Amino acid sequence: MSLLPHGGKLVDRFVKGDRRQEVLEKVCALPRLKIDAYAAFDLDGIAKGIFSPLEGFMGEEETRRVLDDMHLKPGIPWTIPILLSAPREMADRFETGGMVALEDDEGEIAGVLHLQEKFTVDKRELAQKVYGTTDENHPGVKYTYELGDVFLAGPVDVLKERTIEFQEYNLPPSRTREEFARRGWRSIVAFQTRNPIHRAHEYLTKCALEICDGLLIHPLMGTTKRDDIPGDVRMRCYQVLLENYYPKEHVMLSLMPVNMRYAGPKEAIMHAIIRKNYGCTHFIVGRDHAGVGNYYGSYEAQEIFSRFDSAEIGITPLFFDNAFYSKRTGSMATKKTCPGTEAERISLSGTRVREMLKAGEMPPPEFTRPEVAKILIEWARKGAE
Ligand code: ADX
Repeated sequence: MSLLPHGGKLVDRFVKGDRRQEVLEKVCALPRLKIDAYAAFDLDGIAKGIFSPLEGFMGEEETRRVLDDMHLKPGIPWTIPILLSAPREMADRFETGGMVALEDDEGEIAGVLHLQEKFTVDKRELAQKVYGTTDENHPGVKYTYELGDVFLAGPVDVLKERTIEFQEYNLPPSRTREEFARRGWRSIVAFQTRNPIHRAHEYLTKCALEICDGLLIHPLMGTTKRDDIPGDVRMRCYQVLLENYYPKEHVMLSLMPVNMRYAGPKEAIMHAIIRKNYGCTHFIVGRDHAGVGNYYGSYEAQEIFSRFDSAEIGITPLFFDNAFYSKRTGSMATKKTCPGTEAERISLSGTRVREMLKAGEMPPPEFTRPEVAKILIEWARKGAE
């Protein structure tokens, strides 16, 4: 049996049947707001219940509670506001109580917003409270500063499902839940990633799978920062890895069309809650989860869970120490599971790996599976041409 979604009910904000016809008829006459890919992914996430219990973009009071208290309401944790912004001159044209058509980055009307409220939040405060910094070099902070000055709040009716590459793997929460039930999995651990899966990642997923019925490899495929490895390249890495190194009966690959925020600890909570909505019972949080640069401590994303009641989070986090290959034991390990000095460990920094790939050099098999390395080298070479 799957877990209940966050807040008790899986939200579905796609308009169907007669209502859809009604909305479609009204849309042409509505004022329009152009939204970027980031906002369009957020809209899609609300529609599919990925962000259950949210039914729309957050209002001021809710945003305040999320920023100051990390809750939507008592018993319902939430750590990152889901906001829709507009430039002031645009927002002035929209009437509270009316509807706004949302035109996405693909030039289509993706849905409508039932505008209940317009409000402002100090962006520096927003950045500080979500990302723990106001430094513009942080990609999430930079995006926050680029947002329009006015936030528009209210429930949404969504007309279009946003499709992504490898759409057949883009199962919404209702479908992953069905799939888990069909496979008879009662405990399912989700693995969030925005990278190719290297040996350290593989180690975490397999340790976790030892205590669960199923593993959901759940790569994030919304917007990411420019220097992250593109989704299609990652996808080929996941496929080749799964074919060769994971047992089919216990592993499922599905994509998560959600934007990367790089908010470290706050995003770890959000990632866990989202996976609860997808029907998972456990969630992996390793070293520097959802981190970027040196903004967060290595284990801050684990520590933040102690600030919540485990029942209100409703999904069990599985914490892992930094994983590496140990020459001493001849296996993947962490400090918790093997002795030895730094010199006896093989782990590479992201920068070092990028250098090697660009030079056409294979990272060692203790760091990454050769099939994965091959795909990455080809990709790095093409980029260098
Ligand atoms: S993340 O932004 O999605 O967190 P990444 O794809 O690198 O980045 O990590 C996926 C998960 O693996 C996260 O939970 C992260 O903490 C964990 N992780 C990555 N590398 C290691 C490592 N060497 N040791 C332990 N955990 C790791």
